[in-house]
Amino acid sequence: MKKEIEEQYVYMKNVEEIIKDKKMTYSIFTMGCQLNENDSEKICGMLEKMGFSKIEEQSKADLVVFNTCCVRENAEDKLFGKVGEIKKQKEDRGTIIAICGCMMQEEHIVKKLHSSYPYVDIIFGTHTLHKLPEHIYEILKQRKKIDDVIDVEGDVYEGLPISRTDNIKASVTIMYGCNNFCSYCIVPYVRGRERSRKKEDILNEIISLAKSGYKEITLLGQNVNSYNGGKNYKFANLLYDVNKIPGIERIRFISPHPKDFTDDVINAVAECDKVCKIIHLPLQSGSSNILKIMNRKYSKEQYLELVEKMRKTIPNVKFSTDIIVGFPSETEQDFEETLDVVKKVKFEQVYMFIYSRRVGTPGDKMENQIPEEIKHKRFDKLKKLVESQIEENNKEYLGTQQKVLVEGKSKNNENMLTGRTDSGKVVVFKGNEECIKKIVNVTIESDHMWYLQGKIE
Ligand code: 5AD
Ligand code: SF4
Repeated sequence: MKKEIEEQYVYMKNVEEIIKDKKMTYSIFTMGCQLNENDSEKICGMLEKMGFSKIEEQSKADLVVFNTCCVRENAEDKLFGKVGEIKKQKEDRGTIIAICGCMMQEEHIVKKLHSSYPYVDIIFGTHTLHKLPEHIYEILKQRKKIDDVIDVEGDVYEGLPISRTDNIKASVTIMYGCNNFCSYCIVPYVRGRERSRKKEDILNEIISLAKSGYKEITLLGQNVNSYNGGKNYKFANLLYDVNKIPGIERIRFISPHPKDFTDDVINAVAECDKVCKIIHLPLQSGSSNILKIMNRKYSKEQYLELVEKMRKTIPNVKFSTDIIVGFPSETEQDFEETLDVVKKVKFEQVYMFIYSRRVGTPGDKMENQIPEEIKHKRFDKLKKLVESQIEENNKEYLGTQQKVLVEGKSKNNENMLTGRTDSGKVVVFKGNEECIKKIVNVTIESDHMWYLQGKIE
């Protein structure tokens, strides 16, 4: 373990001593992607090691953590709203407020927090997450405000405690940061350059998850398939090795970049029986012109060729994607090209976004920004198309037998179980609780927009 992490374990012990008779609680609010969720699990791990216990009700917590995202603008309004709301709670009961995550790497946000929300206790960025125990210690000791945002990307830290939210599915971050600089995206500025974890650290983490009963692993990275575990050890090698771990039954990964979807990765997906045959392949736009200005490094044709190649190599492969509408200079014709790709690929799921200007990115400085009204019209049109395709895709499941990893009782109906197919579809069915955590065969009998219903075999 690195010296920095050993030091943090000492702080965790010290905090534990200070708060041991006080029964202190924390609540955490996480925004954004699964990488942020995974960071939050590490934050929870550290806090619980110090003796804080987690509660849902923010208004009763002694410590409130906001883990922020800045990929799109609406998250900012949400954060400032929440931090505003908590002022009274702080005045009444001295709640400690900590804010971290991607948004804290943006200068204008930290400035605004300092000027308008001076009661925030701890501000820390994406590269100093592991130092939370030290910050909590300082606050408890001397109640002075702490700012710990650094610009240079941090090291890869191993050995932090982690408290996971689920006991069947687990996320494992394999690489941090991004080198791609897509012109709309803030991530490379707030998460820094690509750093991969050592393969031994990743594999050991997954082996211990399998021993604790986890069945499904999602490998995470901003650009997951550019994982670089050293000479001759790339993402495909990692897939083969994770596939060999006993106990793990399903492997997923997000988000890959089409440009890094090399033949070795395609073959690995085809050959590894545990790797789910649904690929999240972010398209962003179907127009080659827009893709060029987005700096995506592939054209519409190259994307469609890649999809075809995967279809040939991986039997029954399915796709999901991310699409942005209303990027600067997008014409009606460009937008039609996006719809065309959606019609051709028939995605299982499309995560749709309205372009949001991010300070510091090239997209923000471009002329020809698209009026909000047009962006919304395009978004609605895309949404309609996607929904009609999902309905069509769902029909194809009718009468088929699906392998479903059972996650638990259905939230809406205590008598039913719920789980997911290999392709990620939610399936609801009647079954015995003993099926939970197992893969069972379910014949699909009816379809609904967001789930399928079936009968266990
Ligand atoms: N505006 C809208 N959507 C964005 N995304 C990233 N940056 C922006 C932005 N500025 C979307 C992309 C990415 C997903 C995680 O968020 O589609 O794949
Ligand atoms: Fe952002 Fe592009 Fe990197 Fe994804 S690949 S994180 S969209 S810059």
